[in-house]
Amino acid sequence: MTSDQRYTGRAEHEALAAKQAQLGRSEATCAALIPITKSEAWWGLTQDERREIFEERSHHIAIGLEYLPAVARRLHHGRDLGEAFDFLTWFEYPEESRAAFEELVARLRLTPEWEFVEREIDIRLTR
Ligand code: HEM
Repeated sequence: MTSDQRYTGRAEHEALAAKQAQLGRSEATCAALIPITKSEAWWGLTQDERREIFEERSHHIAIGLEYLPAVARRLHHGRDLGEAFDFLTWFEYPEESRAAFEELVARLRLTPEWEFVEREIDIRLTR
C-alpha cells in the first residue's frame, strides 16, 4: 500500500512536489523494482532516531532530489500487511538516465541508512 509520509518535512515536501515527475511518461521506458526489508534494529529505533539516520546523516531526500525529474517514483509499504518485504520501491526513467539511476542507487547504498537494510532485490525492466 502507499502510505503517509513519515520522514519528510514541509520544506522537503514542497521541494519534491515542485520537481517530481508523474509515473507513466511515454519516454520513461526503463523501470526498477527494488523490494527492501530493514532490520529489527531499525524498527527498534524511535521515529526521531530513524529520521536522524534517514536524512540528517544519510541525506536520502537531498540525494534523491538531484535525480528529479528524470526519475519518477512510488513507495509501497508492506511491513504492516505482513508482506515478505517492508517496502516495494518503484522507479521509472528514460533510457538516457539509466546510468544516473545506477549512480543514485550506488550512492544510497553507501549511506548509514543502508546499514539497516537486511534484504534487497534489484530488478530492472525495459519496454
Ligand atoms: C529518485 C530519487 C528518490 C527520491 C526523491 C526519494 C525520496 C524519498 C522520500 C521523500 C522518502 C520518505 C517518505 C516518507 O517521508 O515516509 C523515501 C523513502 C524511501 N526510499 Fe527513497 N527516494 C529516491 C530514491 C530511492 C531509491 C533509488 C531507493 C532504493 C534503492 C529508495 C528507497 C526508499 C525506501 C526503502 C524508503 C522508505 C524508508 C523508510 O521508511 O524506512 N529511494 N524516499
